[in-house]
Amino acid sequence: MVLILDGKKAAAEIRAEVKTEVARLGRSHGPPGLVAVIVGEDPASQTYVKNKEKGAIEVGMRPEVVRLPGSISQADLIAEIRRLNASDNIHGILVQQPLPPQIDEATIVRSVDPMKDVDCFHPENVGLLFQGHPRFAPATPSGVVELLRRNRIPISGREVVIVGRSNIVGRPLAALLLQKGETADATVTVCHSKTKDLPLVTRRADILVAAIGKAHFIKNGMVGEGAVVVDVGINRVPDGAGGSKIVGDVDFDAVSKIAAAISPVPGGVGPMTIAMLLKNTLHAAKMRSG
Ligand SMILES: NC(=O)c1ccc[n+]([C@@H]2O[C@H](COP(=O)([O-])OP(=O)(O)OC[C@H]3O[C@@H](n4cnc5c(N)ncnc54)[C@H](OP(=O)(O)O)[C@@H]3O)[C@@H](O)[C@H]2O)c1
Repeated sequence: MVLILDGKKAAAEIRAEVKTEVARLGRSHGPPGLVAVIVGEDPASQTYVKNKEKGAIEVGMRPEVVRLPGSISQADLIAEIRRLNASDNIHGILVQQPLPPQIDEATIVRSVDPMKDVDCFHPENVGLLFQGHPRFAPATPSGVVELLRRNRIPISGREVVIVGRSNIVGRPLAALLLQKGETADATVTVCHSKTKDLPLVTRRADILVAAIGKAHFIKNGMVGEGAVVVDVGINRVPDGAGGSKIVGDVDFDAVSKIAAAISPVPGGVGPMTIAMLLKNTLHAAKMRSG
């Protein structure tokens, strides 16, 4: 029987742990503040921000959403971020991507105070992560690691193959798994669109992580028997009844027949990402409180 890596359950456990610590910290320093900046009307971004806000309320944090027009200039957006950087009540700042074309994302990422960069996108925090001394663990990659850890899947010494090299998922996940320690120490291969004979590489994985952004891309011929499969993908596809549904990058029905463990979509990595973001915000507030 395949083990289902239940992200809803693991994320609920993490939120409960964060909630306890938020209450303790709140007694002396007030609740941690998490602000999401959303520029324009992208529907997926609206949903993500709503879920982050809901999670923050559940754990006793003080969420705030700053909604800015899609026509905002880069200078005005930076001015808004500087205002948030300077606020004593705000411990975590998220700038929801994608940003409109007149805005340079890299400049915006650099304008967030690294001590409030709970997404771990700022080059200073990325550098610390790659040097093996992370200040914040990036939310989706650490969600993947935590999902494995809470399901008692050993990582140390095992061969992990990640398909996808984005700055949000693939690269920082590789950095996390390469660290020294019980929940790391993996042998990591990162694949991308130019990888030759991808199935040959993915089949040798003890743990295969799919972060491609293509519905059902990973078929059972790409997975070794008994592998652990973590699906990061979120793809909206027609549901055959005139509506749409969310599916992952892995062909779940086929792959779950040969894998030892697999994360579902939805209900796998998605909820873990938000839980880890809340954990980072707690960490930021603790650093501030000394
Ligand atoms: N669950 C969550 O909380 C969460 C968080 C973030 C993202 N996601 C989802 O995860 C997926 C990936 O997101 P992302 O931001 O990392 O995407 P991305 O920036 O588009 O990166 C996709 C990666 O997949 C690689 N790729 C594309 N086609 C390929 C192919 N045919 N063979 C091998 N590699 C291929 C690309 O290679 P190249 O670099 O060569 O182009 C790239 O490295 C998306 O579905 C996204 O919605 C989920």
